Amino acid sequence: MSKQIAIDGPAGAGKSTIAKRLAKELSFVYVDTGAMYRSIGLYMIKNGIDIHDKDAVEKASEKADVSLKYIDGTQHVILNGEDVSDQIRTEEVSKAASVVSAYPQVRKNLTALQKKLAESENVVMDGRDIGTCVLPNADLKIYLTASAEVRGKRRFKELTAKGEKADLTEIVEDIKKRDEADMTREISPLKKADDAVEVDSSDMTIDDVVARIKGLYD
Ligand code: DC
Repeated sequence: MSKQIAIDGPAGAGKSTIAKRLAKELSFVYVDTGAMYRSIGLYMIKNGIDIHDKDAVEKASEKADVSLKYIDGTQHVILNGEDVSDQIRTEEVSKAASVVSAYPQVRKNLTALQKKLAESENVVMDGRDIGTCVLPNADLKIYLTASAEVRGKRRFKELTAKGEKADLTEIVEDIKKRDEADMTREISPLKKADDAVEVDSSDMTIDDVVARIKGLYD
């Protein structure tokens, strides 16, 4: 039986940084499920499909083939044969991903793919519904959170470091809106699994958080 660590939490809580580090230290495969929802969002943008038209998105998503590839241990997302790992990291795609991830057919397809990945590999998987839906029997479930202000500052730093224009107030507002949408959607809303350990990273360094989670896993 493969080993599974599930990390859920709101946008910008540090899930991907922590999950990546943890996976490396434990020699597990890191699976970033948000990247898969982002790829579906990107597909709709590229093909001019209205992301608010649920039926159109669900129909079009059947033609969006999403897979993961690992190059030197780093996850790359492939959308219909194209490596879109960089293209999915814009604010436009973040918003589209949040909208399309609320549609049942999109979730059904991606959840099936995620479960399959975890069957054959030891994984650290991060997302919103990993502990509650995708890997309900995970060996360890973490709910990683931080205040909206701290998360906004982290996102701002990330974007400006890449040379993208960013407005901190706007980012914090967007984060709050996305939290609200992710937490109140009908299917698989973001919530702490009953058996998950909550870790608030607002005042913790990356090393602190990794050490805490490793301590819980050992
Ligand atoms: O973690 P992220 O910001 O890359 O995720 C992008 C969007 O995808 C986010 O708004 C919520 C959604 N998502 C989801 O609904 N379920 C997941 N397991 C992962 C992400």
